[in-house]
Amino acid sequence: MNILITGAKGQLGTELQKVIATGWAQIGQIGPEYAQARVAMVDLPEFDITDAAAVDAYLEGRDFDLIINCAAMTNVDACEGQEERAFAVNAQGPENLAKAAHKRGIDLMHISTDYVFSGEVAIDRVETDRPDPQSAYGRTKLAGEGLIQAATDRHYIVRTAWLYGLEGNNFVKTILRLANENGFVKVVDDQFGNPTSANDLAYEILRIALTKDYGIYHCTNNGTCSWYEFACAILDEMGIACERIPCSTAEMPRPAKRPAYSSLRNKHLEDTVGDEMRPWREALHTYIAQLKDREER
Ligand SMILES: NC(=O)c1ccc[n+]([C@@H]2O[C@H](COP(=O)([O-])OP(=O)(O)OC[C@H]3O[C@@H](n4cnc5c(N)ncnc54)[C@H](OP(=O)(O)O)[C@@H]3O)[C@@H](O)[C@H]2O)c1
Repeated sequence: MNILITGAKGQLGTELQKVIATGWAQIGQIGPEYAQARVAMVDLPEFDITDAAAVDAYLEGRDFDLIINCAAMTNVDACEGQEERAFAVNAQGPENLAKAAHKRGIDLMHISTDYVFSGEVAIDRVETDRPDPQSAYGRTKLAGEGLIQAATDRHYIVRTAWLYGLEGNNFVKTILRLANENGFVKVVDDQFGNPTSANDLAYEILRIALTKDYGIYHCTNNGTCSWYEFACAILDEMGIACERIPCSTAEMPRPAKRPAYSSLRNKHLEDTVGDEMRPWREALHTYIAQLKDREER
């Protein structure tokens, strides 16, 4: 199997690379189909998904079976101030990949987000629920889904949430830094979602990619919590006894509106390969152990 990973230096891209190279994720062994896989990893600056001609030229003659698009503009507040740029990266870039993939009969695996939902009702969302994004990030990610669907039938769109991996920045690392710098953390307790390990997600993505059961999938670790509860769990796992202050969204205004409740249910996974995603707390425990291990070395 010949795989192209775009946005390969990010949280998910680096986990995918590790899992394919070793054959193992934390929650299990990936299929033997990947044992002989050849993987090309590309990212900025040398590979820009917004450059349609360059994307097409790169794919020419390279004979890929699968493209996994991990490239995105993921800074939610930055997207709010730069919606045009966010649209180029989160919508037009995926469309460029989808068109180039369609031309050559290549499957496209694309990653999307819980922020496509408004989050105004506290219901765990399934894949068939109507999206209604409230931020530029959510709007541009949803536009990307639509452009992919229009360009190729051979697509998997996997929506995930609150992602953390070993490389790059994420909420877990931010909370640990703030606790060390300030001796306290203040975190919103009225936004709910699903913390998700990039390693677990990589495992499920690689299983979904073998199904040929195309379409939209939700894939998050199981269980729902607030950002405040997530922060407390991070500090508990790390053994940091600093002050933890819950606050409301109104007390902590940000440029982009976040959904109040964007918990996803992995319904399509349940109905196909099976939902092997761990409870979020269990996945976090493994992740913090890895961070501690890194610190000690
Ligand atoms: N992080 C989350 O909490 C979260 C939640 C829900 C869904 N998701 C989705 O999950 C996927 C993976 O997220 P992640 O956290 O792994 O993202 P990430 O760590 O931000 O990595 C994204 C990678 O894409 C690269 N990139 C940006 N623009 C590009 C372009 N025009 N062409 C090629 N590469 C480009 C980035 O490079 P630079 O760093 O140089 O910009 C970065 O290496 C994304 O689709 C994201 O929308 C993430």
